Amino acid sequence: HRHLLGIEGLTAPEINLLLDTADRYVEQNRGENRVTNKLAGKTIVNLFFENSTRTRTSFELAARRLGADAINMSVDGSSVKKGETLIDTALTLNAMHLDALVVRHQESGAPKLLASKVNCAVINAGDGQHEHPTQALLDALTIRRRLGTLKGLTVAICGDILHSRVARSNIHLLNIMGANVRVVAPPTLLPGAVDRMGVEVHHSMATGLKDADIVMMLRLQLERMQGQFLPSQREYFRFFGLDYDKLSVAKPGALIMHPGPMNRGVEIDSLVADDIHRSVILQQVELGVAVRMACLDLLTAAPKAA
Ligand code: CP
Repeated sequence: HRHLLGIEGLTAPEINLLLDTADRYVEQNRGENRVTNKLAGKTIVNLFFENSTRTRTSFELAARRLGADAINMSVDGSSVKKGETLIDTALTLNAMHLDALVVRHQESGAPKLLASKVNCAVINAGDGQHEHPTQALLDALTIRRRLGTLKGLTVAICGDILHSRVARSNIHLLNIMGANVRVVAPPTLLPGAVDRMGVEVHHSMATGLKDADIVMMLRLQLERMQGQFLPSQREYFRFFGLDYDKLSVAKPGALIMHPGPMNRGVEIDSLVADDIHRSVILQQVELGVAVRMACLDLLTAAPKAA
């Protein structure tokens, strides 16, 4: 089985195939006949060890719209609470003959470990601070549908880069597709290896957003900051929160993105987040269903005879 464990290592043609396939599902999702039987008889399990609104719901919708059976396994109600290990949980689910296992886990590398133990496709729905590949794909589809291409665009990814698997997956994808990537953050919210990530590093919104085509804001992940430097939220907003004043140096009409969930008034001002012309935050959510349909379709469909 093929898996989707991260964007790192994918090629531009593979990313284009996923995006082209997703593109075809966008119109279907908007129409009356949203449900097809393309994956009828397939079984997909969502195994989420961390909270989620967008990713879990959209994987479930994606599976159902392709005619597959989708099961959400709640960790709270499972035998994980009785001490069953991650591997035993996976082997148990595997014995029920799944076609895909969608995994979100707080530890980086958990989906890869599972992929080595099960017979079905494993899709990473976010692992620790490592990757969130379907988020980067839906971000790419959103950009491509609005601006036609990713190549040559300047994308400023702003905020808590240190804790962000979304930033990591987007940096990989944007570099593979030929965009210019900037990260904009205080030094305390950048990973030590940032110099080896193929990005331009900025410590101020004034230089980081200058002439940017896309401004991608990230949530300040306060829950991952225990014991570390915890910025004052008001101070953080003053220097790194996106408002119209800071946005004014970007290209006219620059798109505003955020993977969600947002901390309004911390990393983004509500007026900017709700700007109906420039904010594409809800389009990102919409296209997330199509991207997850493409992933399930391409990873679980029967291999074509040679
Ligand atoms: N963007 C994202 O992954 O959101 P959820 O945590 O709600 O799935």
